[in-house]
Amino acid sequence: MSEPEPPSVAALSLAATATDPVKKATEQEINPWDVQAAVDEDGNIQEFDYAAISAKWATKLIDTALLERFERVTGHRLHRWLRRGLFFSHRDVDLILDKYERGEDFLLYTGRGPSSGSMHIGHTIPFEFTKWLQDVFDVPLVIMLTDDEKFLFKEKLTQPEVYQFARENAKDIIAIGFDPKKTFIYIDSEFFTSGFNRHFNLNSTEFEKKVTNNQVRGAFGFDGSTNIGSNAFAAKQCVAAFASSYPFIWGHEYTSYHRSQKLASIPCLIPCAIDQDPYFRLVRDNCSRMDLPSPKPALIHSKFLTALQGAGGKMSASNPNSAIYMNDTDNQIKKKVNQHAFSGGQETLELHRELGGNPDIDVPYQYLSYFEDDDEKLAKFAEDYRKGEMLTGDMKKECVTIMTAYVTKFKEARAKVTDEVLDSYLKPRKLEWKGNPNPTKPKVEESNAEAGEAGAVVGEDGKPLTKNQLKKLAKAAEVEKKKKEKEAAKAAKS
Ligand code: TRP
Repeated sequence: MSEPEPPSVAALSLAATATDPVKKATEQEINPWDVQAAVDEDGNIQEFDYAAISAKWATKLIDTALLERFERVTGHRLHRWLRRGLFFSHRDVDLILDKYERGEDFLLYTGRGPSSGSMHIGHTIPFEFTKWLQDVFDVPLVIMLTDDEKFLFKEKLTQPEVYQFARENAKDIIAIGFDPKKTFIYIDSEFFTSGFNRHFNLNSTEFEKKVTNNQVRGAFGFDGSTNIGSNAFAAKQCVAAFASSYPFIWGHEYTSYHRSQKLASIPCLIPCAIDQDPYFRLVRDNCSRMDLPSPKPALIHSKFLTALQGAGGKMSASNPNSAIYMNDTDNQIKKKVNQHAFSGGQETLELHRELGGNPDIDVPYQYLSYFEDDDEKLAKFAEDYRKGEMLTGDMKKECVTIMTAYVTKFKEARAKVTDEVLDSYLKPRKLEWKGNPNPTKPKVEESNAEAGEAGAVVGEDGKPLTKNQLKKLAKAAEVEKKKKEKEAAKAAKS
């Protein structure tokens, strides 16, 4: 998950009351560098409106039909974050399931911008979920640590600092339990100078040539004063989704000049928080225009974990009491939950017993809903709370117990991640995976795929496209790009 650092909840409400005599409502803002909930006329922070952001960006909401199919195709019980809607939106996950049914490979890809040395529970969510996906699908995974991105975007950070953060974060990520045989983690500043990055580099240069300033400005709201590194960085996060950027993972020759169409045609699934979507729209819009076209990467998007202060707040490194950190002590966790977690209980014990509490806005309950796997137990907590039989203190106690257990388990694993362990994950190498052990549909034969040329860029009917069809596609994409540029230029002017 990226770490936009909005003002703390307290600072926001202060700003709304102290400096704004005429209180102004603001809409929610979600982009890769800034995530802020809406504020109403009275300065109250609102909950994030996830349906609205999905509609605005034209993603698909995850519905029960998709969840049922997910469970059927993978043969695994759904992760609680799917059951409970923390991962709520997607692009083309159905196509990934088609691939898996046919026993074909895909690449999992996620990442983190290392903007501080320690991670909190909000940061670990996409990684925990990615690990589950890796276990379920048994596919190769790349994790990109963008120290270059954080250096470019954060005025105050130096290169040695972000590099050190990246190493610390990588150790945290490893502690989540990724299978070393199937996982390649890289720190941009290292990988991009390693010699193993030739195909990555060819991809990013090609992508940089295809994407104009106007397109990047349209996607990210940059302007003429944005540093040129930030403009170019987008290409790196984008081509990181192309399997052809990592030939060594498939045991292909990485020193040869030529990239492989076969690898380029391997699809990719990206689990990420919804704020990262603008990057991947850019790659989805342009991947078919690459010399060796790649299919559009699929995405599965999460919501943001609620800050301890309550709905609408986002966990933020600038306010340590807004989040539980993975290196917090048992006592710190207890204190944070008891003193800082927003409660949906009543003012007094009598009132609570009489009226009951509201689990929907109760942060300790929310955290239980992220980490308690037992659906029945969770439902009972909610019910007893509403009835006033379960008290605020009881809910907090349950929350402290489960969060302490989560952090303790993490810390034990983290203590074992030495520099040698880290370096073994960071080493570019061939990975090993098995994929679907029982495909239920036939593979799309390679021989059909024009001797691997047009690869598995497939049409609506699931058949590989012919050269002519590909040309047409590229032409259409070109027209679409021109149109988008015009729109972006217009938007930038207005
Ligand atoms: N830009 C992301 C951040 O700031 C890091 C990142 C790179 C990423 N590649 C990704 C996040 C892929 C999710 C998926 O955190």
